[in-house]
Amino acid sequence: MLSAMKLMLTFFLSGIIACYGDNPNYDSIHKLLLVSFDGFRADYLKNYRLPHLQEFIEDGVLVEYVTNAFITKTFPNHYSIVTGLYEESHGIVSNEMYDKDTKKKFSQFNDKDPFWWNEATPIWITNQQQENRRSAAAMWPGTDVKINNTLSHFFMKYNYSVTFEERMESITMWLNNSNPPVTFATLYWEEPDASGHKYGPGNKENMRKVLEQVDNHIGSLIYKLKRLGLWENINVIITSDHGMTQCSPEKLIILDNCIGRGNYTLVDQTPVAAILPRNNKTYVYNLLKNCSTFMKVYLKEEIPNRFHYHHNKRIQPIILVADEGWTIVQNGSLTKLGDHGYDNALPSMHPFLAAHGPAFRKGYKKKTINNVDIYPMMCHILGLKPQPNNGTFSNTKCLLVDQWCINLPESIGIVIGVLLVLTTLTCLIIIMRNRISSPRPFSRLQLQEDDDPLIG
Ligand SMILES: *[C@@H]1O[C@H](CO)[C@@H](O)[C@H](O)[C@H]1NC(C)=O
Ligand SMILES: *[C@@H]1O[C@H](CO)[C@@H](O)[C@H](O)[C@H]1NC(C)=O
Ligand SMILES: *[C@@H]1O[C@H](CO)[C@@H](O)[C@H](O)[C@H]1NC(C)=O
Ligand SMILES: *[C@@H]1O[C@H](CO)[C@@H](O)[C@H](O)[C@H]1NC(C)=O
Ligand SMILES: *[C@@H]1O[C@H](CO)[C@@H](O)[C@H](O)[C@H]1NC(C)=O
Ligand SMILES: *[C@@H]1O[C@H](CO)[C@@H](O)[C@H](O)[C@H]1NC(C)=O
Ligand SMILES: *[C@@H]1O[C@H](CO)[C@@H](O)[C@H](O)[C@H]1NC(C)=O
Ligand SMILES: *[C@@H]1O[C@H](CO)[C@@H](O)[C@H](O)[C@H]1NC(C)=O
Ligand SMILES: [Zn+2]
Repeated sequence: MLSAMKLMLTFFLSGIIACYGDNPNYDSIHKLLLVSFDGFRADYLKNYRLPHLQEFIEDGVLVEYVTNAFITKTFPNHYSIVTGLYEESHGIVSNEMYDKDTKKKFSQFNDKDPFWWNEATPIWITNQQQENRRSAAAMWPGTDVKINNTLSHFFMKYNYSVTFEERMESITMWLNNSNPPVTFATLYWEEPDASGHKYGPGNKENMRKVLEQVDNHIGSLIYKLKRLGLWENINVIITSDHGMTQCSPEKLIILDNCIGRGNYTLVDQTPVAAILPRNNKTYVYNLLKNCSTFMKVYLKEEIPNRFHYHHNKRIQPIILVADEGWTIVQNGSLTKLGDHGYDNALPSMHPFLAAHGPAFRKGYKKKTINNVDIYPMMCHILGLKPQPNNGTFSNTKCLLVDQWCINLPESIGIVIGVLLVLTTLTCLIIIMRNRISSPRPFSRLQLQEDDDPLIG
């Protein structure tokens, strides 16, 4: 009922807007800088003091939490953000992969083979191929790989030792100087993920320290963009790939206690383990199924649809999904006090998104979007025709200044308002009518009295 009203209102109002004709002028295209602070859990924003980020948000938009893609790991989610595709569709299904046909292996230290990336085309490539523009990248996963035989015009080879300042210097320099112009740029930083793994997100003191550093990085980026005179004309999105949860040495699932290693290859470890059985899949499955009550064991064809994690041969025949906070090992002990990768429905796995710039509204907050929705929004801002993707542009309309947006509470308000006005008008009309007929207030009664003698 409410959604029907909303729909009618949207039609009505978009009709009005259509008359104004909101064709964006792509000649005056704005630049877009996409920044990721790895492992920035959504609720860090509520629980820690982050003055520079808060200031950025007050003058821009905030999406309180972003529903990311399963599995909630770094490479897969960074690729979902820049392609708008679920992992099964863009092909980076994990940080550790194995392709049975080619016998190729992928890991974060061996990620340069285009074979793994070519199932999708990220936005930095499309930006260069559709228009006479350039892209620049400071270490976003995949930006130092030739995808569709193309590299970002400016890029840095991945090297975690390169400081944030050096990455920022390069990216702002590229954004400032270039003909044709650099219109799309990415910037990646490893924190607060690294500290989240090391200390666990429950370690408030250490997380406070690292988040203060991250906030200072945001402050110096804003300062730098202002000094170059870019700040007012550039759109900046600050987001992340996933959150983080606390692990514990008491929460270990030890596979060696359940199944001999000769039965399978462990392609990916934890908290989503990818299992390639050697010979007998059913045998391996049965042993694993009975291994721990703190993990789900799925044959590939049983993986729940909501994960959108099935249609790719790089997804192994059996996957194990640990419950929140549990760690899967073959033997041995816990190495990380914090981890991510778990079910993408868990709030602890969600990152946030904030954005600022001429394309965005000011002081607007929204509960949630999906991370695949970011891609069509970025294409809209850059005036690019999106590649086929799994995002929904309308989910992000309320964030954008050039889009008409009504959210549910507002539309309920409008409907109630319209009803009140109609009721008032009706009342007024009735009162007016009564006033007009007031000289004979009891005419009907009189008529009835008059009737009697006739019947009698
Ligand atoms: C790949 O690159 C070619 C040009 O080299 C381009 O025509 C084509 O559209 C690109 N494919 C995709 C899917 O982006
Ligand atoms: C990575 O960066 C550091 C610091 O700039 C440098 O010393 C080192 O040589 C770089 N490593 C590679 C492989 O380029
Ligand atoms: C940035 O670009 C402007 C305009 O082209 C130029 O005046 C300025 O020197 C540039 N700054 C840097 C640091 O490259
Ligand atoms: C498979 O696992 C079972 C149960 O742990 C074990 O007895 C057997 O030796 C294993 N087979 C191989 C080939 O490792
Ligand atoms: C595979 O294992 C199952 C269960 O242990 C068993 O019933 C079946 O016979 C085995 N199949 C083969 C081909 O070994
Ligand atoms: C499952 O595990 C329980 C003990 O945890 C054991 O008693 C039972 O035999 C196992 N079942 C199978 C099918 O391995
Ligand atoms: C784990 O397994 C490896 C290989 O079988 C073995 O060398 C190592 O000692 C084991 N570690 C523990 C803690 O059991
Ligand atoms: C995601 O998008 C791709 C490309 O359009 C499509 O092939 C795939 O079916 C979509 N996935 C879902 C779950 O809709
Ligand atoms: Zn990450």
